[in-house]
Amino acid sequence: MTQDAAGPRIEPTVYGHFVEHAGTGVYGGLWVGPESAIPNTRGWRNDVVQALKHIGVPVMRWPGGCFADDYDWRDGIGDPAHRPVRRNRWWGGLESNRVGTHEFMDFAEQLGSEVYISGNMGSMPPRAAAQWLDYMTADDASTLAQERRHNGRDKPWKVKYFGVGNESFGCGGNMSPEHQADMHNQFATFLWSSTRVASGDGEGDDRRVEVLMQRSAKQMDALTLHYYSVPDNWTKHGEATGFDAGAWARTLKAALGIEKRIDTLSAIMDKHDPAKRVALYVDEWGTWYDTPAGASALWQQNSLRDALVAAVTFNVFHAHTDRVKMANIAQMVNVLQSMALTDGPRMVLTPTYYAFDLYRPFKGATPLKATLQAPAFNTGDVELPTVQVSAARGADGKLVLALVNLNPERPARVTTNLTSAVTGKVLTGAAMDAHNTFEQPQAVVPAPFSAKPGSQGLVLTLPARSVVVVEMQALR
Ligand code: AHR
Repeated sequence: MTQDAAGPRIEPTVYGHFVEHAGTGVYGGLWVGPESAIPNTRGWRNDVVQALKHIGVPVMRWPGGCFADDYDWRDGIGDPAHRPVRRNRWWGGLESNRVGTHEFMDFAEQLGSEVYISGNMGSMPPRAAAQWLDYMTADDASTLAQERRHNGRDKPWKVKYFGVGNESFGCGGNMSPEHQADMHNQFATFLWSSTRVASGDGEGDDRRVEVLMQRSAKQMDALTLHYYSVPDNWTKHGEATGFDAGAWARTLKAALGIEKRIDTLSAIMDKHDPAKRVALYVDEWGTWYDTPAGASALWQQNSLRDALVAAVTFNVFHAHTDRVKMANIAQMVNVLQSMALTDGPRMVLTPTYYAFDLYRPFKGATPLKATLQAPAFNTGDVELPTVQVSAARGADGKLVLALVNLNPERPARVTTNLTSAVTGKVLTGAAMDAHNTFEQPQAVVPAPFSAKPGSQGLVLTLPARSVVVVEMQALR
Protein backbone atom coordinates (compact mmCIF):
# COMPACT_ATOMS: atom_id res chain seq x y z
CA MET A 1 0.00 0.00 0.00
CA THR A 2 1.26 3.52 -0.75
CA GLN A 3 0.22 7.01 0.22
CA ASP A 4 -0.37 7.93 -3.45
CA ALA A 5 -3.90 8.95 -4.31
CA ALA A 6 -5.49 6.56 -6.78
CA GLY A 7 -8.09 9.02 -8.00
CA PRO A 8 -10.37 11.88 -6.99
CA ARG A 9 -12.32 11.57 -3.75
CA ILE A 10 -15.01 8.96 -3.22
CA GLU A 11 -18.19 11.00 -3.57
CA PRO A 12 -20.53 10.29 -0.63
CA THR A 13 -23.28 9.94 -3.25
CA VAL A 14 -21.72 6.62 -4.29
CA TYR A 15 -23.50 5.39 -1.15
CA GLY A 16 -26.89 6.49 -2.48
CA HIS A 17 -30.25 4.72 -2.53
CA PHE A 18 -33.14 4.05 -4.85
CA VAL A 19 -36.81 4.07 -3.85
CA GLU A 20 -39.47 2.88 -6.30
CA HIS A 21 -43.21 2.48 -6.03
CA ALA A 22 -42.98 -1.31 -6.25
CA GLY A 23 -44.32 -4.00 -3.92
CA THR A 24 -43.99 -2.77 -0.33
CA GLY A 25 -40.98 -0.61 -1.14
CA VAL A 26 -42.89 2.58 -0.31
CA TYR A 27 -46.30 1.67 1.16
CA GLY A 28 -45.78 -0.40 4.31
CA GLY A 29 -41.99 -0.42 4.13
CA LEU A 30 -41.34 3.29 4.40
CA TRP A 31 -44.71 5.00 4.53
CA VAL A 32 -47.49 3.92 6.89
CA GLY A 33 -49.48 7.16 6.91
CA PRO A 34 -49.90 9.72 9.69
CA GLU A 35 -52.92 7.92 11.10
CA SER A 36 -51.06 4.59 11.56
CA ALA A 37 -50.46 3.03 14.98
CA ILE A 38 -46.91 2.29 13.79
CA PRO A 39 -44.78 5.16 15.13
CA ASN A 40 -44.22 7.62 12.32
CA THR A 41 -43.42 11.22 11.54
CA ARG A 42 -45.95 12.65 9.12
CA GLY A 43 -46.46 9.13 7.74
CA TRP A 44 -42.84 7.95 7.48
CA ARG A 45 -41.86 5.05 9.77
CA ASN A 46 -39.67 6.23 12.64
CA ASP A 47 -37.83 2.89 12.96
CA VAL A 48 -36.72 2.92 9.32
CA VAL A 49 -35.89 6.63 9.29
CA GLN A 50 -33.76 6.25 12.42
CA ALA A 51 -31.87 3.27 10.98
CA LEU A 52 -31.27 5.07 7.67
CA LYS A 53 -30.08 8.21 9.41
CA HIS A 54 -27.45 6.13 11.18
CA ILE A 55 -25.84 4.94 7.94
CA GLY A 56 -26.53 8.29 6.23
CA VAL A 57 -28.43 8.63 2.97
CA PRO A 58 -26.57 11.16 0.82
CA VAL A 59 -28.97 10.91 -2.12
CA MET A 60 -32.21 9.13 -2.98
CA ARG A 61 -33.61 8.38 -6.42
CA TRP A 62 -37.42 8.37 -6.73
CA PRO A 63 -40.13 7.41 -7.90
CA GLY A 64 -38.69 4.70 -10.23
CA GLY A 65 -37.37 2.74 -12.14
CA CYS A 66 -39.87 1.61 -14.66
CA PHE A 67 -42.58 3.26 -12.55
CA ALA A 68 -41.14 6.70 -13.35
CA ASP A 69 -41.93 6.54 -17.07
CA ASP A 70 -45.59 5.86 -16.32
CA TYR A 71 -45.90 8.48 -13.57
CA ASP A 72 -47.71 11.79 -13.82
CA TRP A 73 -46.44 14.04 -11.03
CA ARG A 74 -49.78 15.87 -10.94
CA ASP A 75 -51.41 12.67 -9.60
CA GLY A 76 -49.37 13.04 -6.40
CA ILE A 77 -50.07 16.63 -5.34
CA GLY A 78 -53.01 18.33 -3.65
CA ASP A 79 -55.58 16.92 -1.25
CA PRO A 80 -54.74 13.22 -0.74
CA ALA A 81 -58.44 12.39 -0.65
CA HIS A 82 -58.79 13.57 -4.23
CA ARG A 83 -55.72 12.02 -5.76
CA PRO A 84 -56.42 9.57 -8.57
CA VAL A 85 -55.84 5.85 -8.12
CA ARG A 86 -53.85 4.37 -10.98
CA ARG A 87 -52.76 0.92 -11.97
CA ASN A 88 -49.12 0.22 -11.19
CA ARG A 89 -48.34 -0.98 -14.68
CA TRP A 90 -44.97 -2.57 -13.96
CA TRP A 91 -45.19 -3.93 -10.44
CA GLY A 92 -48.86 -4.71 -10.05
CA GLY A 93 -51.59 -3.51 -7.71
CA LEU A 94 -53.00 -0.03 -7.41
CA GLU A 95 -51.11 3.19 -6.82
CA SER A 96 -53.03 5.40 -4.42
CA ASN A 97 -50.73 8.38 -5.00
CA ARG A 98 -50.85 8.98 -1.24
CA VAL A 99 -47.10 9.45 -1.43
CA GLY A 100 -46.37 12.20 -3.93
CA THR A 101 -43.93 15.05 -4.25
CA HIS A 102 -44.64 16.78 -0.91
CA GLU A 103 -44.49 13.55 1.07
CA PHE A 104 -41.30 12.33 -0.63
CA MET A 105 -39.58 15.67 -0.14
CA ASP A 106 -40.52 15.56 3.55
CA PHE A 107 -38.92 12.09 3.76
CA ALA A 108 -35.73 13.42 2.11
CA GLU A 109 -35.65 16.30 4.59
CA GLN A 110 -36.10 13.92 7.52
CA LEU A 111 -33.11 11.93 6.25
CA GLY A 112 -31.04 14.95 5.22
CA SER A 113 -30.73 13.47 1.73
CA GLU A 114 -30.31 15.13 -1.65
CA VAL A 115 -33.05 14.22 -4.08
CA TYR A 116 -32.68 12.65 -7.47
CA ILE A 117 -36.00 12.88 -9.25
CA SER A 118 -36.50 10.36 -11.99
CA GLY A 119 -38.51 12.12 -14.70
CA ASN A 120 -40.90 10.66 -17.23
CA MET A 121 -39.60 10.73 -20.79
CA GLY A 122 -41.43 7.60 -21.91
CA SER A 123 -45.06 8.65 -21.74
CA MET A 124 -45.27 12.40 -20.99
CA PRO A 125 -44.13 15.50 -22.93
CA PRO A 126 -41.08 17.58 -21.97
CA ARG A 127 -43.37 20.31 -20.69
CA ALA A 128 -44.60 17.99 -17.90
CA ALA A 129 -41.05 17.30 -16.73
CA ALA A 130 -40.09 20.97 -16.88
CA GLN A 131 -43.22 21.99 -14.98
CA TRP A 132 -42.60 19.39 -12.27
CA LEU A 133 -39.11 20.83 -11.80
CA ASP A 134 -40.50 24.37 -11.68
CA TYR A 135 -43.22 23.32 -9.23
CA MET A 136 -40.57 22.00 -6.86
CA THR A 137 -37.89 24.66 -7.26
CA ALA A 138 -39.43 28.01 -8.30
CA ASP A 139 -39.12 30.80 -5.75
CA ASP A 140 -41.14 33.47 -7.53
CA ALA A 141 -44.72 34.47 -8.19
CA SER A 142 -45.23 31.97 -11.00
CA THR A 143 -48.44 29.99 -10.95
CA LEU A 144 -46.61 26.71 -10.31
CA ALA A 145 -44.77 28.14 -7.30
CA GLN A 146 -48.07 29.53 -6.01
CA GLU A 147 -49.69 26.15 -6.48
CA ARG A 148 -46.93 24.53 -4.40
CA ARG A 149 -47.49 27.13 -1.68
CA HIS A 150 -51.21 26.53 -1.82
CA ASN A 151 -50.46 22.81 -1.31
CA GLY A 152 -48.56 23.56 1.87
CA ARG A 153 -44.95 24.24 0.95
CA ASP A 154 -43.76 27.82 0.90
CA LYS A 155 -40.01 27.41 0.48
CA PRO A 156 -38.80 25.83 -2.76
CA TRP A 157 -37.06 22.49 -2.51
CA LYS A 158 -33.65 21.79 -3.94
CA VAL A 159 -33.66 19.21 -6.71
CA LYS A 160 -30.02 18.55 -7.35
CA TYR A 161 -30.47 15.73 -9.87
CA PHE A 162 -33.13 15.13 -12.51
CA GLY A 163 -33.25 11.88 -14.48
CA VAL A 164 -34.32 12.17 -18.11
CA GLY A 165 -36.20 8.89 -18.41
CA ASN A 166 -35.28 5.43 -17.13
CA GLU A 167 -34.16 2.42 -19.14
CA SER A 168 -35.25 4.02 -22.40
CA PHE A 169 -34.07 0.82 -24.09
CA GLY A 170 -36.92 -1.08 -22.42
CA CYS A 171 -39.66 -0.11 -19.95
CA GLY A 172 -38.89 3.56 -20.54
CA GLY A 173 -40.17 3.47 -24.12
CA ASN A 174 -38.29 0.80 -26.10
CA MET A 175 -36.46 3.53 -27.99
CA SER A 176 -33.65 3.02 -30.46
CA PRO A 177 -30.43 4.71 -29.32
CA GLU A 178 -30.83 7.42 -31.95
CA HIS A 179 -34.43 8.14 -31.02
CA GLN A 180 -33.53 8.23 -27.33
CA ALA A 181 -30.63 10.63 -27.97
CA ASP A 182 -32.91 13.03 -29.84
CA MET A 183 -35.59 12.76 -27.16
CA HIS A 184 -32.99 13.32 -24.46
CA ASN A 185 -31.78 16.49 -26.15
CA GLN A 186 -35.31 17.79 -26.46
CA PHE A 187 -36.14 17.11 -22.78
CA ALA A 188 -32.80 18.28 -21.41
CA THR A 189 -33.22 21.65 -23.14
CA PHE A 190 -35.97 22.46 -20.64
CA LEU A 191 -34.31 20.95 -17.55
CA TRP A 192 -31.09 22.92 -17.36
CA SER A 193 -31.61 24.06 -13.76
CA SER A 194 -30.76 20.59 -12.42
CA THR A 195 -28.02 18.02 -13.02
CA ARG A 196 -29.38 16.30 -16.14
CA VAL A 197 -28.98 12.56 -16.00
CA ALA A 198 -29.33 10.59 -19.22
CA SER A 199 -30.56 7.02 -19.02
CA GLY A 200 -27.72 4.85 -20.27
CA ASP A 201 -27.02 1.15 -20.34
CA GLY A 202 -28.58 -1.74 -18.48
CA GLU A 203 -28.37 -4.56 -20.97
CA GLY A 204 -24.75 -4.57 -22.08
CA ASP A 205 -25.37 -2.32 -25.08
CA ASP A 206 -22.16 -0.40 -25.85
CA ARG A 207 -23.65 1.09 -28.99
CA ARG A 208 -26.35 2.95 -27.08
CA VAL A 209 -23.71 4.59 -24.92
CA GLU A 210 -21.65 5.45 -27.99
CA VAL A 211 -24.66 7.06 -29.71
CA LEU A 212 -25.73 8.94 -26.58
CA MET A 213 -22.24 10.31 -26.02
CA GLN A 214 -21.94 11.25 -29.68
CA ARG A 215 -25.28 12.99 -29.98
CA SER A 216 -26.15 14.14 -26.48
CA ALA A 217 -23.01 14.61 -24.37
CA LYS A 218 -23.49 18.39 -24.43
CA GLN A 219 -27.03 18.00 -23.10
CA MET A 220 -26.18 15.81 -20.14
CA ASP A 221 -24.19 16.01 -16.93
CA ALA A 222 -24.31 12.30 -16.20
CA LEU A 223 -25.10 9.02 -17.88
CA THR A 224 -26.37 5.94 -16.06
CA LEU A 225 -25.53 2.28 -15.78
CA HIS A 226 -27.90 -0.31 -14.30
CA TYR A 227 -26.14 -3.44 -13.12
CA TYR A 228 -27.83 -6.36 -11.36
CA SER A 229 -26.07 -9.47 -10.06
CA VAL A 230 -28.03 -12.63 -10.69
CA PRO A 231 -26.75 -16.10 -9.73
CA ASP A 232 -28.47 -17.94 -12.59
CA ASN A 233 -30.30 -16.15 -15.40
CA TRP A 234 -33.16 -13.72 -16.05
CA THR A 235 -35.75 -16.49 -16.35
CA LYS A 236 -34.75 -18.25 -13.12
CA HIS A 237 -32.70 -15.83 -11.07
CA GLY A 238 -31.82 -18.17 -8.18
CA GLU A 239 -32.67 -18.34 -4.50
CA ALA A 240 -31.91 -15.66 -1.92
CA THR A 241 -31.16 -18.28 0.77
CA GLY A 242 -30.59 -22.04 0.84
CA PHE A 243 -28.10 -21.83 -2.03
CA ASP A 244 -24.89 -23.81 -2.51
CA ALA A 245 -21.25 -22.80 -2.92
CA GLY A 246 -21.72 -22.66 -6.70
CA ALA A 247 -24.44 -20.00 -6.43
CA TRP A 248 -22.33 -18.10 -3.88
CA ALA A 249 -19.43 -18.01 -6.34
CA ARG A 250 -21.58 -17.15 -9.40
CA THR A 251 -23.23 -14.26 -7.59
CA LEU A 252 -19.95 -12.77 -6.44
CA LYS A 253 -18.43 -13.31 -9.87
CA ALA A 254 -21.38 -11.45 -11.39
CA ALA A 255 -20.95 -8.64 -8.84
CA LEU A 256 -17.23 -8.30 -9.63
CA GLY A 257 -18.18 -8.10 -13.32
CA ILE A 258 -19.38 -4.54 -12.76
CA GLU A 259 -15.76 -3.44 -13.02
CA LYS A 260 -15.50 -4.58 -16.65
CA ARG A 261 -18.75 -2.79 -17.48
CA ILE A 262 -17.53 0.43 -15.84
CA ASP A 263 -14.20 0.14 -17.72
CA THR A 264 -15.98 -0.37 -21.04
CA LEU A 265 -18.40 2.52 -20.56
CA SER A 266 -15.63 4.78 -19.24
CA ALA A 267 -13.55 4.07 -22.36
CA ILE A 268 -16.48 5.05 -24.61
CA MET A 269 -17.12 8.16 -22.53
CA ASP A 270 -13.40 9.08 -22.61
CA LYS A 271 -13.50 9.13 -26.42
CA HIS A 272 -16.23 11.76 -26.49
CA ASP A 273 -15.53 13.52 -23.20
CA PRO A 274 -11.80 13.33 -22.45
CA ALA A 275 -12.15 16.05 -19.80
CA LYS A 276 -14.51 13.72 -17.90
CA ARG A 277 -17.21 16.36 -17.49
CA VAL A 278 -20.01 13.81 -17.79
CA ALA A 279 -20.25 11.54 -14.75
CA LEU A 280 -21.25 7.89 -14.70
CA TYR A 281 -24.05 7.18 -12.21
CA VAL A 282 -24.68 3.53 -11.38
CA ASP A 283 -28.19 4.46 -10.36
CA GLU A 284 -29.46 0.89 -9.97
CA TRP A 285 -27.28 -1.94 -8.72
CA GLY A 286 -27.58 -4.97 -6.48
CA THR A 287 -28.66 -8.59 -6.38
CA TRP A 288 -31.87 -9.87 -7.94
CA TYR A 289 -33.22 -13.27 -6.83
CA ASP A 290 -36.54 -15.06 -7.36
CA THR A 291 -39.47 -13.57 -5.45
CA PRO A 292 -40.98 -16.24 -3.16
CA ALA A 293 -44.60 -17.19 -3.85
CA GLY A 294 -47.00 -14.91 -2.01
CA ALA A 295 -44.42 -12.18 -1.33
CA SER A 296 -44.89 -8.60 -2.50
CA ALA A 297 -43.32 -7.61 -5.82
CA LEU A 298 -39.53 -7.89 -5.93
CA TRP A 299 -39.31 -8.91 -2.25
CA GLN A 300 -36.27 -10.98 -1.40
CA GLN A 301 -34.42 -12.10 1.73
CA ASN A 302 -30.95 -10.67 2.22
CA SER A 303 -28.01 -12.75 3.42
CA LEU A 304 -24.33 -12.48 4.20
CA ARG A 305 -23.73 -13.08 0.47
CA ASP A 306 -25.49 -9.77 -0.23
CA ALA A 307 -23.23 -7.97 2.23
CA LEU A 308 -20.21 -9.29 0.34
CA VAL A 309 -21.76 -8.25 -2.98
CA ALA A 310 -22.18 -4.75 -1.55
CA ALA A 311 -18.62 -4.67 -0.22
CA VAL A 312 -16.93 -5.82 -3.44
CA THR A 313 -19.08 -3.36 -5.40
CA PHE A 314 -18.10 -0.46 -3.13
CA ASN A 315 -14.45 -1.44 -3.60
CA VAL A 316 -14.90 -1.32 -7.38
CA PHE A 317 -16.56 2.12 -7.15
CA HIS A 318 -13.59 3.35 -5.08
CA ALA A 319 -11.28 2.31 -7.91
CA HIS A 320 -13.23 4.34 -10.51
CA THR A 321 -13.82 7.70 -8.86
CA ASP A 322 -12.76 9.53 -12.02
CA ARG A 323 -16.18 8.74 -13.54
CA VAL A 324 -18.35 7.06 -10.93
CA LYS A 325 -19.77 9.94 -8.93
CA MET A 326 -23.03 8.40 -7.79
CA ALA A 327 -24.53 4.96 -7.23
CA ASN A 328 -27.95 3.94 -5.90
CA ILE A 329 -28.55 0.52 -4.48
CA ALA A 330 -31.79 -1.13 -5.59
CA GLN A 331 -33.70 -0.70 -3.39
CA MET A 332 -34.18 0.82 0.05
CA VAL A 333 -36.72 -1.41 1.88
CA ASN A 334 -38.53 -4.70 1.03
CA VAL A 335 -37.47 -4.61 -2.62
CA LEU A 336 -34.45 -6.43 -4.10
CA GLN A 337 -31.20 -5.87 -2.15
CA SER A 338 -32.66 -3.81 0.64
CA MET A 339 -31.45 -2.20 3.85
CA ALA A 340 -34.41 -3.39 5.91
CA LEU A 341 -37.39 -5.72 5.76
CA THR A 342 -40.68 -4.87 7.40
CA ASP A 343 -43.83 -6.72 8.33
CA GLY A 344 -46.51 -4.53 9.87
CA PRO A 345 -44.88 -2.91 12.91
CA ARG A 346 -41.79 -5.14 12.75
CA MET A 347 -38.53 -4.18 11.07
CA VAL A 348 -35.24 -6.04 10.70
CA LEU A 349 -31.97 -4.69 9.34
CA THR A 350 -30.23 -6.72 6.65
CA PRO A 351 -26.58 -7.74 6.22
CA THR A 352 -26.44 -5.21 3.36
CA TYR A 353 -27.41 -2.47 5.83
CA TYR A 354 -24.42 -3.47 7.93
CA ALA A 355 -22.10 -3.37 4.92
CA PHE A 356 -23.19 0.26 4.38
CA ASP A 357 -22.57 0.84 8.09
CA LEU A 358 -19.01 -0.56 7.93
CA TYR A 359 -18.12 1.52 4.87
CA ARG A 360 -19.19 4.87 6.33
CA PRO A 361 -15.55 6.08 6.74
CA PHE A 362 -15.09 5.88 2.95
CA LYS A 363 -17.56 8.68 2.24
CA GLY A 364 -15.56 11.65 1.00
CA ALA A 365 -12.25 9.77 1.46
CA THR A 366 -9.44 9.81 -1.11
CA PRO A 367 -8.71 6.38 -2.58
CA LEU A 368 -5.11 5.15 -2.20
CA LYS A 369 -3.14 2.67 -4.25
CA ALA A 370 -3.34 -0.73 -2.60
CA THR A 371 -2.18 -3.86 -4.34
CA LEU A 372 -2.68 -7.34 -3.07
CA GLN A 373 -1.04 -10.59 -4.04
CA ALA A 374 -3.70 -13.14 -3.29
CA PRO A 375 -4.24 -16.57 -4.79
CA ALA A 376 -7.51 -17.20 -6.59
CA PHE A 377 -9.79 -20.03 -5.55
CA ASN A 378 -12.15 -22.13 -7.63
CA THR A 379 -15.68 -23.34 -7.04
CA GLY A 380 -16.61 -25.58 -9.93
CA ASP A 381 -15.63 -23.58 -13.00
CA VAL A 382 -15.91 -20.19 -11.25
CA GLU A 383 -12.64 -18.58 -10.24
CA LEU A 384 -12.66 -15.79 -7.68
CA PRO A 385 -9.96 -13.75 -5.96
CA THR A 386 -9.64 -14.89 -2.34
CA VAL A 387 -9.38 -11.36 -1.01
CA GLN A 388 -10.36 -8.01 -2.50
CA VAL A 389 -9.10 -4.75 -0.98
CA SER A 390 -9.74 -1.02 -0.98
CA ALA A 391 -7.78 1.67 0.88
CA ALA A 392 -8.41 5.37 1.32
CA ARG A 393 -7.46 8.36 3.41
CA GLY A 394 -10.50 9.63 5.22
CA ALA A 395 -11.45 13.29 5.36
CA ASP A 396 -10.15 13.15 8.97
CA GLY A 397 -6.70 11.97 7.78
CA LYS A 398 -7.10 8.39 8.99
CA LEU A 399 -6.24 5.45 6.78
CA VAL A 400 -9.25 3.25 6.14
CA LEU A 401 -8.90 -0.24 4.78
CA ALA A 402 -11.61 -2.62 3.55
CA LEU A 403 -10.87 -6.30 2.97
CA VAL A 404 -13.31 -8.88 1.68
CA ASN A 405 -12.60 -12.59 2.06
CA LEU A 406 -14.69 -14.16 -0.70
CA ASN A 407 -13.78 -17.72 0.25
CA PRO A 408 -16.83 -19.19 2.00
CA GLU A 409 -14.82 -21.92 3.75
CA ARG A 410 -11.37 -20.62 4.66
CA PRO A 411 -9.95 -17.73 6.64
CA ALA A 412 -7.38 -15.54 4.87
CA ARG A 413 -4.16 -14.24 6.38
CA VAL A 414 -3.17 -10.87 4.88
CA THR A 415 0.36 -9.59 5.51
CA THR A 416 0.62 -5.82 5.00
CA ASN A 417 3.40 -3.22 4.86
CA LEU A 418 1.65 -1.31 7.64
CA THR A 419 3.22 -0.91 11.06
CA SER A 420 0.42 0.57 13.18
CA ALA A 421 -2.45 -1.00 15.03
CA VAL A 422 -5.88 -0.93 13.41
CA THR A 423 -9.37 -1.11 14.83
CA GLY A 424 -12.70 -1.52 13.13
CA LYS A 425 -15.41 -4.03 12.49
CA VAL A 426 -15.92 -7.43 10.91
CA LEU A 427 -19.12 -8.75 9.35
CA THR A 428 -19.52 -12.48 8.92
CA GLY A 429 -22.03 -15.22 9.75
CA ALA A 430 -22.40 -18.89 10.61
CA ALA A 431 -23.21 -19.86 7.01
CA MET A 432 -23.04 -18.45 3.46
CA ASP A 433 -26.74 -17.66 3.61
CA ALA A 434 -26.82 -16.42 7.22
CA HIS A 435 -29.50 -13.76 7.44
CA ASN A 436 -31.50 -11.74 9.93
CA THR A 437 -35.16 -12.43 10.66
CA PHE A 438 -37.73 -10.76 12.89
CA GLU A 439 -37.17 -13.64 15.33
CA GLN A 440 -33.36 -13.57 15.05
CA PRO A 441 -32.36 -10.05 14.07
CA GLN A 442 -28.75 -10.42 15.26
CA ALA A 443 -27.60 -13.39 13.16
CA VAL A 444 -25.45 -11.14 10.95
CA VAL A 445 -24.28 -8.01 12.73
CA PRO A 446 -20.86 -6.35 12.89
CA ALA A 447 -18.40 -7.33 15.62
CA PRO A 448 -15.31 -5.42 16.77
CA PHE A 449 -12.07 -6.23 14.94
CA SER A 450 -8.55 -5.12 15.81
CA ALA A 451 -4.97 -6.09 15.03
CA LYS A 452 -1.56 -5.00 16.27
CA PRO A 453 1.74 -5.20 14.37
CA GLY A 454 4.04 -8.10 15.28
CA SER A 455 7.41 -9.29 14.02
CA GLN A 456 5.97 -9.62 10.47
CA GLY A 457 4.41 -6.19 10.54
CA LEU A 458 0.64 -5.88 10.56
CA VAL A 459 -1.06 -9.16 9.73
CA LEU A 460 -4.84 -9.33 9.41
CA THR A 461 -6.64 -12.62 9.70
CA LEU A 462 -9.98 -12.43 7.94
CA PRO A 463 -12.59 -15.02 8.86
CA ALA A 464 -14.05 -17.09 6.02
CA ARG A 465 -16.82 -15.20 4.08
CA SER A 466 -16.22 -11.86 5.76
CA VAL A 467 -15.96 -8.13 5.29
CA VAL A 468 -13.48 -6.25 7.48
CA VAL A 469 -13.18 -2.45 7.61
CA VAL A 470 -10.46 -0.98 9.83
CA GLU A 471 -8.97 2.43 10.45
CA MET A 472 -5.57 3.60 11.63
CA GLN A 473 -4.34 7.02 12.68
CA ALA A 474 -1.76 7.64 9.95
CA LEU A 475 0.25 5.84 7.32
CA ARG A 476 3.84 5.01 8.21
O1 AHR B 1 -35.31 -2.05 -9.67
C1 AHR B 1 -36.30 -2.73 -10.36
C2 AHR B 1 -36.36 -2.38 -11.83
O2 AHR B 1 -35.18 -2.77 -12.47
C3 AHR B 1 -36.47 -0.92 -12.17
O3 AHR B 1 -37.76 -0.45 -12.10
C4 AHR B 1 -35.95 -0.86 -13.56
O4 AHR B 1 -35.36 0.37 -13.87
C5 AHR B 1 -34.96 -2.00 -13.64
O5 AHR B 1 -35.18 -2.80 -14.73
